[in-house]
Amino acid sequence: MSIHKPKIKKITTHQLQEMKSRGEKISMLTAYDYSMAKILDSAGIDVLLVGDSASNVMAGNETTLPITLEQMIYHASSVVKATTRSFVVVDIPFGSYQGNSSEALRSAVRIMKESGGHAVKMEGGSEIKESIVRVLSAGVPVMGHLGLTPQSIFKFGTYTVRAKDEEEAKKLIEDAKCLEECGCFAIVVEKIPASLAEKVANEISIPVIGIGAGNGVDGQVLVMQDMLGITKEFKPRFLRRYADLDTIITDAVSNYIEDVKAGDFPSEEEQY
Ligand code: KIV
Repeated sequence: MSIHKPKIKKITTHQLQEMKSRGEKISMLTAYDYSMAKILDSAGIDVLLVGDSASNVMAGNETTLPITLEQMIYHASSVVKATTRSFVVVDIPFGSYQGNSSEALRSAVRIMKESGGHAVKMEGGSEIKESIVRVLSAGVPVMGHLGLTPQSIFKFGTYTVRAKDEEEAKKLIEDAKCLEECGCFAIVVEKIPASLAEKVANEISIPVIGIGAGNGVDGQVLVMQDMLGITKEFKPRFLRRYADLDTIITDAVSNYIEDVKAGDFPSEEEQY
């Protein structure tokens, strides 16, 4: 058992804020289903993100754009049922909040009511301020998401590092301050220079959680399939693999096939 495994105590936005204040890093991973969420929760992960990356890693789409609100609610409700300690954040999917604050509120309320999630995440800065404020006004905690925002991939054109130039870096800092002023409880910054991410974390008081954003932030998030070595072909520089599940699963399934073909499974002890 890990020495870092904390005693069961439900994580809240308040505790995440306290973690930042005392310099304790926040651990966050994505989860999309009951069985995996149960393992991650009991391993002691602080935040589970039901990311719209489910569109890629669960449904096999090239981008996060196709996933629907109903599909996000389905994934989120499975994760929530498995959770005793972790704080569960759910992505509001593309097309369910941008440019329409009433729709943003409706989508957030559906996620909270139908999945039991604890907060929502929305991609973007000042341009979605009205939607964020509306969702927050209903008492729904909001996590922001700046830098590489995959729902805007067709605007960016590539998945390369964002905010490398001065103008984009300045806008990102302004957006981070805007999200803090609106009342977001935390922000994800994705694929931006480490020095910029650290500056953001130092200049705002809410937790800043990075992915491909260096070690100067308040916590880290990875896509679970990537860090467990399931998505073998995905090899960005920021990714550290903690397991090689592709090989482990392939070996296990090969052994099973061999046993079935050879008539070695089931044995006397494995039948009624
Ligand atoms: O959808 C997702 O998995 C995310 C993380 C990459 C932060 O937004």
